[in-house]
Amino acid sequence: MSRITLSQFLIQQQRDGERICAELRFLVEVVARAVKAIGNAVGKGGLTNSLGEAGGENVQGEVQKKLDVIANEILLEANEWGGHLAAMASEEMDLPHQIPNRYPKGEFLLLFDPLDGSSNIDVNISVGTIFSVLRCPELNGSVEPVDEKAFLQPGTQQLVAGYAVYGAATQLVLTVGNGVHAFTLDRETGSFVMTTENMRVPEDTKEYAINASNARWWEAPVKRYIDELLAGKSGPRGKDFNMRWVGSMVADVHRILTRGGIFMYPKDTKDPTKPGKLRLMYEANPMAMLIEQAGGAATTGYQRILDVQPEKLHQRVPVILGSKNEVERVTGYHAV
Ligand code: AHG
Ligand code: MN
Ligand code: MN
Repeated sequence: MSRITLSQFLIQQQRDGERICAELRFLVEVVARAVKAIGNAVGKGGLTNSLGEAGGENVQGEVQKKLDVIANEILLEANEWGGHLAAMASEEMDLPHQIPNRYPKGEFLLLFDPLDGSSNIDVNISVGTIFSVLRCPELNGSVEPVDEKAFLQPGTQQLVAGYAVYGAATQLVLTVGNGVHAFTLDRETGSFVMTTENMRVPEDTKEYAINASNARWWEAPVKRYIDELLAGKSGPRGKDFNMRWVGSMVADVHRILTRGGIFMYPKDTKDPTKPGKLRLMYEANPMAMLIEQAGGAATTGYQRILDVQPEKLHQRVPVILGSKNEVERVTGYHAV
């Protein structure tokens, strides 16, 4: 069977579908190159001195791991010189990263979670990178820095969304608004090769993912939903459910795109200043776009994630995503 590479796929999307322009194609190629480098760094494990903590905290008060910092640097360096970006934003940086004056600026904004699931790095469990691409609002020839406001666009405006998962294999999963496709890194040739065309999330599932240690802080609709799943065959759902929680959103979402399921990091009352744990702009939005493109659904419990109007670059949001019928059911419980 002949398989197409990521580069061939992107050229097809540019040529036939006119889904992407040359700059966006280049952007995805550069991100793919960067995630290969991150995958290499992750894959070296304890052989290099890159495990453990970096000794600082990010803007959100979370301890940075060395690989969080390394992955962030790799993405910045790979993307700043090419002329395709107006600015970048990252989980690991308080403010948007400006393109240095020595390089040309482009019309796109790149947002990323450089290393997702960083608590899993030191234990050799899959981690990933999540990214999202927006168009930068008119700069009108301005030489002013691109501020946070330029990024505050709802997820419906995303042009490209994707993630890389550094697992037994390194995979890149991508949408340019035309379905979701998975590419696997062939370590011998160094190319990403399409291994699944058109990933689809089954509408029904028997598998759910939630960190149940937060149960005492959940809101009533989530408690009700999970209680019904736990009741299994003899409960209102009339079937048994299975549970999985990797602790890396990328890995949990990858499982759902592969075989269905529902993933929840819902609103809880643990810390009233945080309406959820996951970040809207570079975690929830790209994953919501991928899941919707694959026929699933993604809500906060109260509204579609992609419709949320962002107010801050690093804002958090409750996330419920995956198999459509389950997401609709638990969202419905929030409405009663
Ligand atoms: P990050 O490593 O980028 O901070 O993200 C971790 C996120 C997400 O990947 C995962 O689903 C969730 O945190 C796990 O949270 P708990 O440790 O509360 O289960
Ligand atoms: Mn993350
Ligand atoms: Mn992260």
